[in-house]
Amino acid sequence: MRQSLVVANWKMNGSLSENQSLLNNVKQGFSTVQHAEVAVCVPFVYIQQVSDLLKGSVIAWGGQNMSQQTSGAFTGETSANMLVDFGCKYVIVGHSERRNLYAESDLLVAEKFAQAQSAGLIPILCVGESLIQREAGETENVVQRQLSAVINLQGVASLAQSVIAYEPVWAIGTGKSATSQQAQDVHAFIRGQVSDARVAEHLQILYGGSVKGSNAAELFAMPDIDGGLIGGASLKVNEFLSICQAAR
Ligand code: PGA
Repeated sequence: MRQSLVVANWKMNGSLSENQSLLNNVKQGFSTVQHAEVAVCVPFVYIQQVSDLLKGSVIAWGGQNMSQQTSGAFTGETSANMLVDFGCKYVIVGHSERRNLYAESDLLVAEKFAQAQSAGLIPILCVGESLIQREAGETENVVQRQLSAVINLQGVASLAQSVIAYEPVWAIGTGKSATSQQAQDVHAFIRGQVSDARVAEHLQILYGGSVKGSNAAELFAMPDIDGGLIGGASLKVNEFLSICQAAR
């Protein structure tokens, strides 16, 4: 049995006061959520605040990006070790907003994945196709290419200490989620790409893209969907709690 995991991706949202009230409310509502592991991935500048608020709770935290470099003259960058210093457990790598808006290549994403693991972080590797790619029947090719970049660099065994998030780009922030069957098909394909059967069986594959309280249970009921990576809905206490409750 794979443990369900729900990860909030706040993106570039929040403020000291908003974060405090959001996390206090989530913690309060959380006693009713026992089945899923939960984490929040927050902007770098708020990691200290979030670690203060979540220390001693069952909620983990992490970053949304990091450098592929270890340390040195890389102005404006944040290293994996810095995230570890602040108690991060996870880091998102290869989110489509990073790939598309900041031109992150498959290889760069794979290097970040490697760097995260060598610092002891669990990378959450995002993969997914655009609408044009889906309509052209390219979904599996795209996802396979994004996954292979990591497998080629790090080996298939490295996936054992990672999480994959399938996030079709056309479903992110659009309100238009993939159907549970569309998502399941790609999740099963991803699992099938992992040639080591033991690693494949234990690999947590999250779905992301317009997950809400109203569609989470149906998505999470699919056999290869092990939880979600939640953007917009993670900023709303009740929505986020009901998504967490749907993950068992
Ligand atoms: P969304 O974002 O839930 O707002 O669609 C998901 C993500 O980008 O991780």
